[in-house]
Parts: sequence; structure tokens; C-alpha cells
Amino acid sequence: MIITKEQKEQISRAFSQYAEGYDMTDPKIRLKAEHTYKVAALAQRIAEAVDPENAGMAWLSGMLHDIGRFEQVRRYHTFIDADSVNHAEFGADLLFQNHLIDMLLKGFTLSDSDLRLLERSIRCHNMYRLPEGLSDRETSSCQILRDADKIDILRVIGDTPLEDIYGLSTEKLRTAPVSEEVKSCFCKKTSVLRSLKRTPIDHLVGHICLIFDLAYPVSREIIAEQGYLLRLLSFPSDNPDTRAWFEYMRSHITL
Ligand SMILES: [Fe+2]
Repeated sequence: MIITKEQKEQISRAFSQYAEGYDMTDPKIRLKAEHTYKVAALAQRIAEAVDPENAGMAWLSGMLHDIGRFEQVRRYHTFIDADSVNHAEFGADLLFQNHLIDMLLKGFTLSDSDLRLLERSIRCHNMYRLPEGLSDRETSSCQILRDADKIDILRVIGDTPLEDIYGLSTEKLRTAPVSEEVKSCFCKKTSVLRSLKRTPIDHLVGHICLIFDLAYPVSREIIAEQGYLLRLLSFPSDNPDTRAWFEYMRSHITL
């Protein structure tokens, strides 16, 4: 489906008005607003390479995918879903059950099948694995959004002090060892389940392992182009074992 430049501008304005209804002095809110625009642009770029007909829908899914984050932060003051709500389901409920989508799209009408596709993509964007039984179009839409989200998560982690991201002291981060289970995920080239992350630095290795879940070569190209992965791999640990492990990852990672 084609979304014109004017429609995109209108949707961006409606999103910005919505976000401004939250506390924009809160760095968490500002971070999510910026993340939204970046993911939308990335999703469009990936779709143009792999599924050009759906580039407009990919952009829109990026614009709406984290809408639940704003209300999550206002109510619970955290991005940790386990301590609050599943932000993907929460956002999809706000959009499609509480009709927030009508306000954000303002008279711009989507077909029922496009609405269902959008809802599915948003609900699935933070899942560890996609559910079985998706149609080809759903799979492609979900994968494009998930790749775009992961790419921008690496930017956020690369650009923000890790102490702020993980809520840990510099000392804890720099002295921590990497758990064997987490190392084994890297060696098997799989992403890391939250439950396997036990030490402070496991979170960073887990974020690095997000690259193993990327669905498309163009997504890897963008990661290589942006350079944030290298920044994460250069983490200056004071723990000799962790330092050696990061050196190992640097020499074994291929995009
Ligand atoms: Fe998200």
C-alpha cells in the first residue's frame, strides 16, 4: 500500500502530538520518540530492499510499534516488561481496542487486512521467536519491523552510557564475568533469552547477539554501515576473562 509523503507528514505530526502529551523532559520518553522515527525509517529502507510494495506499511509499523512505551513509562516508570506490562501487547491494545489508531491516522483509512497486518506486526515485534502459522505477508512484515527495531536498539545501546541503559554502576559492569550459557548462545549464533542473563555484562552480550536474529542481508549491511556493533564489542572490561571474551567475539563476528 502506498502512503504519500503528505500522509506520512500528517501521521508523524499526530504521533508527535501524542508523544508530547507525555513528559518530554523524561529521557526515557525522548529516547522512545527518537527510536520511533529511526525504526520507521529503517523499516522503510529494509522493505524497499526486500518487499517494496509494502514499504509504506513497514514505515507505519515502525511509527506505531512502540506506542505502548509512553503509557508504560507514565504508569510504571520502567521499560522492563517483566516489572510492568508487555509493551507490545499493551500498545496494540491501546491502538486497536481503545481506538488510539483512529486519532493517529486521522481520517487516513487502512483496509481491514492492512489493519490486521499492522496489529500482528506490533504484537509480535518483541517476541523471542515469531509464532507458527503466519502468512508470507505477515512473516515479511513482522521480520522487517523486528530487524529495524534490533538495528536501532544497537544504536541506542551504543549511544547511551551502559550504566543508564542497564541501571548498574560502572564498577559492576566493568568487573562482571560473562555467563557460560550466554557465551554458548554467541557460539551457537542465537539470541539470548532474558532468563539466561545473570551477570551485569550478560545484558550487553545479549544485545550483541541480537544480530544473529536478523532476517535480511540488508539489515546486516545497515549494522555494518552504522558502526555501533563495533563500539559495543570494544567494551573496556577490567575483568581479564571478560576482556578475553570480548576479544574472542570481535574476531569471530561476521555480518
Ligand atoms: Fe518495542
